[in-house]
Amino acid sequence: MHQTIQPQILYFGTPVVIISTINPDGTPNIAPISSIWWMNQSCMIGMSSRSQTIANLKREQQCTINLASADLVHAVDRLALTTGLSPVPEYKQSMGYVYVPDKFEHAGLTPVASQTVQPPCIQECPVQMEALLEQSYVFDAKSGGHLCAAELKINRIHIEEALLNDRQRIVAERWHPLIMNFCEFFTTGTTIYPSRLAEPFTKQYYSS
Ligand SMILES: Cc1cc2nc3c(=O)[nH]c(=O)nc-3n(C[C@H](O)[C@H](O)[C@H](O)COP(=O)(O)O)c2cc1C
Repeated sequence: MHQTIQPQILYFGTPVVIISTINPDGTPNIAPISSIWWMNQSCMIGMSSRSQTIANLKREQQCTINLASADLVHAVDRLALTTGLSPVPEYKQSMGYVYVPDKFEHAGLTPVASQTVQPPCIQECPVQMEALLEQSYVFDAKSGGHLCAAELKINRIHIEEALLNDRQRIVAERWHPLIMNFCEFFTTGTTIYPSRLAEPFTKQYYSS
């Protein structure tokens, strides 16, 4: 039996990434999001257009995307209810958000220089990507136009060595992403079995 319900949020379990952008004064801003999906060498993110991140991204056209592993849950949670935007928009004030100018320090995270973009990567994140903004769109316009979907092209990727085998491929069992599942943090469990896609996929992409 299924029941017809109307959940307030539809967070069915997506990885948490921390986006790093550059503020107008040249300092970095970081913000966690979980509205993200990937295709080929690009990704699509969904974020409030009233965030400092989207303002920075539209102005500078650059960001880094840092995937949080499960052990970074406390740092991510310290970033919750913070914004790099001052004054804090009223709707966020009423939710308890506060303005934090240095979110790296606030979360206990370390900026590390990127190679191709201005925003720094986050040292503690095992997967770091440098990215350029391709396009941005108003998302769900009928709900007020306050949501932005942004397409990002990944142009450099840095992976923590401990996740790699001796052929520089990521070992899936070693990667434990932090997952936002409704409003609780999860991570991945044990392997069920390899996907049937693995063989043709490996042939097509890793045959060299
Ligand atoms: C785990 C987690 C996931 C989040 N996911 C999203 C998201 O997908 N989209 C979004 O707009 N905000 C998301 N947020 C809220 C933003 O981090 C928040 O709006 C923040 O104030 C943005 O910071 P900024 O204004 O400095 O850019 C998430 C927060 C947390 C803690």
